[in-house]
Amino acid sequence: MFGTIILLWICVVFVILQLKSRRPKNFPPGPPILPILGNILNISLENPLKDFERLRKSYGNVYSLYMGPKPAVVINGMEAMKAAMVYKANDFAGRPQDLFINETTQRKGVILADYGPGWKEHRRFALMTLRNFGMGKNSMEDRIYGEIKYVIRQLETSIGKPFSPQLMFHNAASNIICQVLFGRRFEYDDNFIKVIVGCFTENAKIANGPWAMLYDSLPMIRGLPLPFNKAFKNVEKLAKGLLVEHKKTRVPGDPRDFVDCYMDELDKRGEDPASFSEEQLRMFALDLHFAGTDTTSNTILTGFLYLSTYPHIQERCQQEIDSALEGKDRASFDDRHNMPYMQAVIHEVQRVANTVPLSVFHCTTKDTELMGYSLPKGTLVIPNLGSVLNEEGQWKFPNEFNPENFLNDKREFFKPEAFMPFSAGPRMCLGESLARMELFLILVTLLRKFKFSWPEDAGEPNYAPVYGVTLTPKPYNMIVTLRDSQ
Ligand code: HEM
Repeated sequence: MFGTIILLWICVVFVILQLKSRRPKNFPPGPPILPILGNILNISLENPLKDFERLRKSYGNVYSLYMGPKPAVVINGMEAMKAAMVYKANDFAGRPQDLFINETTQRKGVILADYGPGWKEHRRFALMTLRNFGMGKNSMEDRIYGEIKYVIRQLETSIGKPFSPQLMFHNAASNIICQVLFGRRFEYDDNFIKVIVGCFTENAKIANGPWAMLYDSLPMIRGLPLPFNKAFKNVEKLAKGLLVEHKKTRVPGDPRDFVDCYMDELDKRGEDPASFSEEQLRMFALDLHFAGTDTTSNTILTGFLYLSTYPHIQERCQQEIDSALEGKDRASFDDRHNMPYMQAVIHEVQRVANTVPLSVFHCTTKDTELMGYSLPKGTLVIPNLGSVLNEEGQWKFPNEFNPENFLNDKREFFKPEAFMPFSAGPRMCLGESLARMELFLILVTLLRKFKFSWPEDAGEPNYAPVYGVTLTPKPYNMIVTLRDSQ
């Protein structure tokens, strides 16, 4: 009798859960949903990209997956991506607020802020401040060149021997954004930067791994002492001493960098700061450092992986650089207009690098429709940017590294609509202009001075990246030599 009651009770709970996790009416299709687990067994938590592609073949460009009890809609291909991010920009510009990652940032900063006045104010402020740096006496180009000098120095000490560029490019990208934020660079073994990078690397790993997925899927485990708690402690550690030095040395009204500009803005706002605050600034600075480091450095690393294994493409770049910069000390960003091939190569590197493969997750801000499906307000949206960057029909050569993807019949540079590594719409990358300037100046300056080759004993290059919030090439060595003309 007792056994029968228990069995009956289990059946009732099972039926309730089944009903609860059924897709809403006219919701995008997807694989059958398991009680409690949803679809987490349908995708690899270590690297879901192949599974996303497989599901796209079965269910089309817009499909849904349940992360435990929580539905998510995956958007694939250019047509659906533009329909959501551009044509219905306001409906799709939210950020989910109840994920592990929101807990780690204490819901501050800009990347994960929900679509609303606070996000808008901060985004506008950041864009304006970054633009003003471009015009000041210490221009953005100067800040980037300041760091390129260190990269050159390091490469010069590595001439002729196998050299792993991973740490060097990571530190360079970190230092460029530090120049913008804090007005200074840091030695590669500086404790301040080591702590920031260490905590972020660890948090990115946790945020991208199975523990965060379980945290998001199973609310009942959130209070337990499990490995995800380390991420919360890391952020506390980071935020602590971040502004101490700056507050001591700043001269109000004479800003040296982004942090000073923000503090001036806080002074200006006085009693009525709206969404601006010191806590916001702390997370904002960490956001920008995080967003601007791995993205740029992994793209550059991918660039040198391809350039050192496609020597004919490298040589064509160098010929173009030599002739476009003849008689000039250094390249400026404006020189890109005289370098169609180099532009094509950089864009092709970004296309194959697919650096932020699933963008940053979005969320619907109201009940809306996409490609004939209904999505309720608050639906988690995963933009599969990689599915656009290699979409058949959008590219001349979707599955190979080929700069011809960005050259027209007249050998001029052109940018196909499906080029979306920075995403699209109102949430698209805030640092796009800085990133593009960095990629151009670093690649052009280094290719002008050095030749990069694949070591003879290194075997076949492996282009398959390591999955993470950003995709990273597997560690590799290259051989650096000075070019004959230098
Ligand atoms: C090659 C380098 C980079 C790539 C591929 C890249 C890509 C992206 C992508 C895909 C997004 C998500 C957009 C969306 O949600 O729709 C994003 C957001 C963002 N990026 Fe970048 N990014 C790069 C460099 C940078 C740099 C250098 C900065 C720093 C200034 C930066 C700051 C940001 C910020 C703050 C956001 C959040 C924007 C918002 O939510 O409004 N990124 N980026």
